[in-house]
Amino acid sequence: MNANPNVIPMQPAPSSLVRDFLARKPRLLINNEWVESRSGKTLPVYDPASGREIARVPDAGSEDVNRAVAAARAAFDSGPWSEMLPKAREALLWKLADLIDRNAEELAELESVDNGKTRFMASIIDVPGTRDYFRYMAGYATKIEGVTMQTSIGGMPGAKFHTYVAREPVGVVAQIVPWNFPLAMAAWKLAPALAAGCTCILKPAEQTPLSALRLGELIIEAGFPPGVVNILTGLGESTGAALVAHPGVDKVAFTGSTEVGKIINKAATDTLKRVSLELGGKSPMIVLPDADVGQAVGGAAMAIFFNAGQVCTAGSRLYVHAKIFDKVIEGLSGAASAIRLGPGLEQSTEMGPLVSKEQQERVLSYIESGKQEGASVAAGGEALSHPGYFVKPTVLVNVKPQMRVVKEEIFGPVVVAQRFDDLDDVVKAANDSPYGLGASIWTNNLSAAHRLVPRIKAGTVWVNCHNMVDAAMPFGGFKSSGIGREHGRAAIELYTESKSVCMLV
Ligand code: NAI
Ligand code: MG
Repeated sequence: MNANPNVIPMQPAPSSLVRDFLARKPRLLINNEWVESRSGKTLPVYDPASGREIARVPDAGSEDVNRAVAAARAAFDSGPWSEMLPKAREALLWKLADLIDRNAEELAELESVDNGKTRFMASIIDVPGTRDYFRYMAGYATKIEGVTMQTSIGGMPGAKFHTYVAREPVGVVAQIVPWNFPLAMAAWKLAPALAAGCTCILKPAEQTPLSALRLGELIIEAGFPPGVVNILTGLGESTGAALVAHPGVDKVAFTGSTEVGKIINKAATDTLKRVSLELGGKSPMIVLPDADVGQAVGGAAMAIFFNAGQVCTAGSRLYVHAKIFDKVIEGLSGAASAIRLGPGLEQSTEMGPLVSKEQQERVLSYIESGKQEGASVAAGGEALSHPGYFVKPTVLVNVKPQMRVVKEEIFGPVVVAQRFDDLDDVVKAANDSPYGLGASIWTNNLSAAHRLVPRIKAGTVWVNCHNMVDAAMPFGGFKSSGIGREHGRAAIELYTESKSVCMLV
């Protein structure tokens, strides 16, 4: 415990499990073999809590992309995977989930030193969530169904037709994921694709490649055949872009910034790849006058400070009815100031650093722009004078709708709070965004909640909660927040093609 919240402990040394993993020198996974990049180039991996380099991983180039696509292609077109019974795919996914469970401590620690989040949060959210996601999707492998229909095809007197629709795996998929939940994002991509019978090339974010590579080891241990899952570490503009352009890739699934989502969508047009995109957000949280102030304060703090605000659905725009605005802001600012920052492996830490120096600078520059445009800082508003990439939990008030801090995704622990009097005004303000990923409504008035839900343009609307995600509940965005829905049956649809069959009998 610290008496002075500005003095934080240094990052404890990692356990021998993590040291052993790093000593194995993570490499590229292609065709179930660990290989160097052809160019021999590598990229540094930093611990965000100290800024120290802790590993180097290969920087995959176009030759490596070609090798991985060839392996995935062969596994899909002619490997044992293409003949495997659905129940065998299901069993492999369950086996992988069991291995994740068995190695949970190590994975949580890796996630912490790679991303900055606390080991504690990784151990109660990211790792069990990943395990459960594989288990949930495993079941779909044996539950992919089609339909039959009666047709009215004319012009052939007496002819009878048997017509049906089958779903088939889409093929080789490139899956490009971000750094905020590295392991869970890998699971959201791999699990439904594998359940559907696709083969995969996963590209983790350059900031956080470690847990995906450990997952790769577990994938081999589980017994997935060669080429079914390939993992390429590298930069977005090179490795990622080469995957998106590759003619041997049938589909691209991406989670990340709206800016890159647009680039990917355009690039994929040349080969007409299937594309699913889960992009940015600027999710509003609307607190109605009857809401319980304590619940709203706790909810708002969780909505924006969970994972240091590096969440695509973070409740980053807070709209509170004038009647309770001051009380909610006072409570939220108090909660923000009480959060203990520190390195992720330290037990007393409540919030870790941001993922990278770049992200820290980006978030601080947003705070600066807000101040310059006239916003007031009710809590936080600055970095810590400490080596890691820390930003204090920040509450900005006196903000105006046209300010950059209100319009743009900050992706850090920064909330902008505005008061409202009129429901129509707040609906307009909430929807006044190019994004439409998440939103939450806080009220005990059932009728008000039901009347408001249909007016909010977002892929998920929470009531009296925020950031609740489940494998069964479709997830994705309206407008510039993306294309397609992940989770549930929707995810299986993303990784299958529909085939209509019409037989003259
Ligand atoms: P990014 O969108 O550049 O990176 C996400 C993934 O895309 C990484 O794996 C990256 O290597 C890859 N990538 C980047 N450029 C690519 C390209 N041209 N072709 C193919 N793949 C490419 O996100 P970045 O730069 O790390 O963060 C910038 C901002 O993006 C954040 O501040 C945040 O606002 C937003 N973001 C949103 C996320 C979300 O979950 N919605 C996740 C990460 C970032
Ligand atoms: Mg980028």
